[in-house]
Amino acid sequence: MHLSNDFITARAHTNIALIKYWGKKNDDLIIPNNNSLSLTLNEFYTETSVKFDNSLSKDLVLLDDHDISDSNQIINFLDIIRTKANINASAYVKSYNHVPTSAGLASSASGFAALAAAGSKAAGLQLSLTEMSKLARRGSGSATRSIFGGFSEWIKGNTDNDSYGKSIQDPVAMDINMIAIILDKKPKKISSRIGMKRSVETSPYYNAWTKQTEIDLIKAKEAIKSNNFKALGQVAESNSMRMHALTMSADPSFMYFNQDSIEVINTVKNLRENGIDCYFTMDAGPNVKIICQSADIKIIKNKLANKFDENQMVVSKPGRGIEFI
Ligand code: ADP
Ligand code: DP6
Ligand code: CO
Repeated sequence: MHLSNDFITARAHTNIALIKYWGKKNDDLIIPNNNSLSLTLNEFYTETSVKFDNSLSKDLVLLDDHDISDSNQIINFLDIIRTKANINASAYVKSYNHVPTSAGLASSASGFAALAAAGSKAAGLQLSLTEMSKLARRGSGSATRSIFGGFSEWIKGNTDNDSYGKSIQDPVAMDINMIAIILDKKPKKISSRIGMKRSVETSPYYNAWTKQTEIDLIKAKEAIKSNNFKALGQVAESNSMRMHALTMSADPSFMYFNQDSIEVINTVKNLRENGIDCYFTMDAGPNVKIICQSADIKIIKNKLANKFDENQMVVSKPGRGIEFI
């Protein structure tokens, strides 16, 4: 393989699932129990530069200028790239998150999508988007969808070769925004990985989740096809709450909500009672995302303005797929 002499840089945007991935059937290969569906966001992203260098004695990894070279998750991922490319060289990785890290805003999605793209190219591989998506999946499941822009779906599959993301619609036809309400940027106590494993192993409701999520996914795809914002918002909100029911019903139980999350949720419901068509979704962290149409952004922000600063309310439109820069 031909190693690049220069750093290769890629940018990947985060994605927020409307139909969530929460549980693996294969922990090592990261094969999920369900298909999931997401919207890639334009406001949050990671830029990662990679160079493989035979003169390095070990991998050197900087995230936001901090040395995280001891991260097994990243070293193991670089090993997968080396095996694919049949090289031995260590890597120099420099990554910048334009998204809070480990806070439920999907830094692992943009992070590993960007690393898959930059790393594979730096190692001399020329991967198709589907192959890049399979590779990104090995770093973090949600990353498999961040290779694509707009709406994308992760086809669960059964093996390394048939579990990958694909574009459902890009550019997005629907008028859809996500307002991320940034309540807490601190890293979560229970990572997505640990949280979903505990849910699979101990929640008595886990089987009901997988069954219901298949139904939710069909509804969501129909809503996208027929440009039905209301139907998509409704199913996304229900599916998100069903996921959080798995954390609360696990043993020991845990929760990603904080008091402010509940306040935002109540505000969304209140707005809806007053005729504003908006919904919420939450991931593994307290930060709530409000799903809304463009004409309602102002009124939603105004409603929250007495409690939260302007810079805590970040409006995202659909974002682009992976790009080299
Ligand atoms: P999040 O909600 O932010 O996705 P997760 O618990 O899923 O949180 O994942 C956090 C992990 O993702 C971090 O510990 C780190 O290993 C990985 N990660 C975050 N940003 C990057 C990045 N830019 N490059 C590589 N890995 C990253
Ligand atoms: C709640 O992809 O972060 O955001 O595959 O273990 O790295 P690992 O987990 P991760 O889990 C994401 C969970 C979620 C829902 C989703 O993005 O579908
Ligand atoms: Co994550």
